[in-house]
Amino acid sequence: MSEVWVAWILEWLLAAQFALRDGLHALGLAPLVAGQPAWPFALRLSAEMMWIDPGHARRVAITGMCAVAAVLLFSVAIALAALRRRVRSALVAGLMGVAVFALLAAPWPAAHLLFAPAVPTSLHRSDSGFRPADILRGQALFQQNCAQCHGADARGQGPLAATLGRWPPDLTGGLLWKRLEGELFWRVRHGMRDERLARETMPGASPSRLSDADIWQVLDYLQARASGQSLRDLGTWERPVRMPAFALRCRYGGERRSDGLKGQRVLLVLPSAASSPAPQEDPRMVSVMVGSRADVDDPECLAEDAQLLPALALLLGEREQDARGFQLLADRDGWLRARSAPGRSAWSEDDLVCRTATATATGVQRADKPVAGAGAQGLDVLLRRMDEDPVRPVRAGFPH
Ligand code: HEC
Repeated sequence: MSEVWVAWILEWLLAAQFALRDGLHALGLAPLVAGQPAWPFALRLSAEMMWIDPGHARRVAITGMCAVAAVLLFSVAIALAALRRRVRSALVAGLMGVAVFALLAAPWPAAHLLFAPAVPTSLHRSDSGFRPADILRGQALFQQNCAQCHGADARGQGPLAATLGRWPPDLTGGLLWKRLEGELFWRVRHGMRDERLARETMPGASPSRLSDADIWQVLDYLQARASGQSLRDLGTWERPVRMPAFALRCRYGGERRSDGLKGQRVLLVLPSAASSPAPQEDPRMVSVMVGSRADVDDPECLAEDAQLLPALALLLGEREQDARGFQLLADRDGWLRARSAPGRSAWSEDDLVCRTATATATGVQRADKPVAGAGAQGLDVLLRRMDEDPVRPVRAGFPH
């Protein structure tokens, strides 16, 4: 089964779980926990195995279709029975029989592959806006509350690490994306236990120290930190990185918020050491100078949020002073896709540091593939690839 199909099935399964949770909430059966409806079951559907084992994915898909067919058949049978026409009784029994057969004949997947343990916040979505202020406040909270074990750089080498029963994990690798964000939230709030040894491995964070909003901010920071480390170690963003949300002022359009730029490509120009000319305006993208009015003359758009530069430095895996002069390109969906180092005069396809696994694996839009139109330059190739190869973040196997 192709990856596209698996992603499609998983998207539906996730949506079905959200619908179930919200339906139960509407009926008063799923109370609010940390401001969002709780998932009331001890299990949730698991997605990881669907990617690894195509046979399992096929069984889940066929069983799902059998279950939907059975529900439809039962509904029709009940509707017919309600009409109370004598001739219909055989038909009603027949439809029910087929429905039962569909359920019995379905290739039910093994329960331990289908389900994963769940917590009340399993389906919670971060309610922080991934604003520079969230990321930096999360960093400060992490240093106060977590760094003693996880290390100031979140790589698991804190001063207390060696004294713990279990070594804290490196939070800058892929770990965060292997979890649902709501489950990370739960673990930070309530801590973790080793059930076999019946012992706490990580203490929970008491609400008097960290509010719910604080925890989401710490998770924003960890996400930014892990993105930066990925760029340092691998030269790519292994997982999509959202453009932080900031306020900006544009020559045309006045005050705006970056979320309002969806649908347009955005070029973020970080201030360089010396004051520099505004980047040449380009109709293919909105260019935003990060910094103050003193840094540049009459830019197309200016983002004066003083925390944007340090937040972007984290995403780039650079110290703030070394992040100056970088440029970042975000696609029309608000994902940061390409990075150009200070001093580089032109963009090339190699600057695309966030690309999808399928595009790399199948060689979609290879660098040497000619681009339509004469005189296509590095930036044209890059923009085409960005548009033709949209990214989707995946958490705990579920496309989000
Ligand atoms: C007393 C030391 C200690 C402190 C303080 C601590 N942690 Fe942990 N953390 C650990 C250990 C040990 C583990 C591994 C636990 C395990 O696997 O059972 C862990 C695991 C984690 C995980 C991985 C969870 C998973 O799903 O595998 C995350 C995320 C995390 N910690 C975040 C935090 C954050 C955020 C803070 C601060 C609010 C924090 N930790 C404070 C020791 C600590």
